[in-house]
Amino acid sequence: MRRHAVVYRGGTAPAIVFVGEAPGREEDAQGIPFVGRSGHLLDEAIATLRLAPDDFGIVNLLKCRPPDNRFDPRAAATCRPFLDRQLALLRPRLVVTLGARALRSLDPEAPSLLRAAGAPRTDRAPPIFPLLHPAATFRARAWRQRWEADVVRLEQYLRGSLGKPI
Ligand code: URA
Repeated sequence: MRRHAVVYRGGTAPAIVFVGEAPGREEDAQGIPFVGRSGHLLDEAIATLRLAPDDFGIVNLLKCRPPDNRFDPRAAATCRPFLDRQLALLRPRLVVTLGARALRSLDPEAPSLLRAAGAPRTDRAPPIFPLLHPAATFRARAWRQRWEADVVRLEQYLRGSLGKPI
């Protein structure tokens, strides 16, 4: 059984909202998204992007840690109205999806994650910038390199060199 619902961490009016999949063990223990190993990598990326604490927010598709850490699409459907409400209230100027499930959920027409990651999808409102899930980077060195390259591309996008600055 989950210990805590894991809802949000970040500023009250963030320009950027990161959307992950589901809380893990550490997130469940603390009730805060992305505070475990994946969270450390995400925090490093946020430092690279030079985002101030008020500039960003972090949410998940699922608000509760799934049993055995297994992603359940039915739970995602149940949680979906909460995610939609979060995005409606926060009104970010950019959504950064973390992993295929977050991308697919918010942009069903997106190509595969490996094709989509690292480039903004500006036909969405707000635009979506897909990244790999940080946990993927622990599985293969190539994915770590891809993560790092995509974070640089996100930084360039935010600074206006790949498109309209947010
Ligand atoms: N992975 C996620 O997708 N979300 C978290 O909060 C932690 C790890």
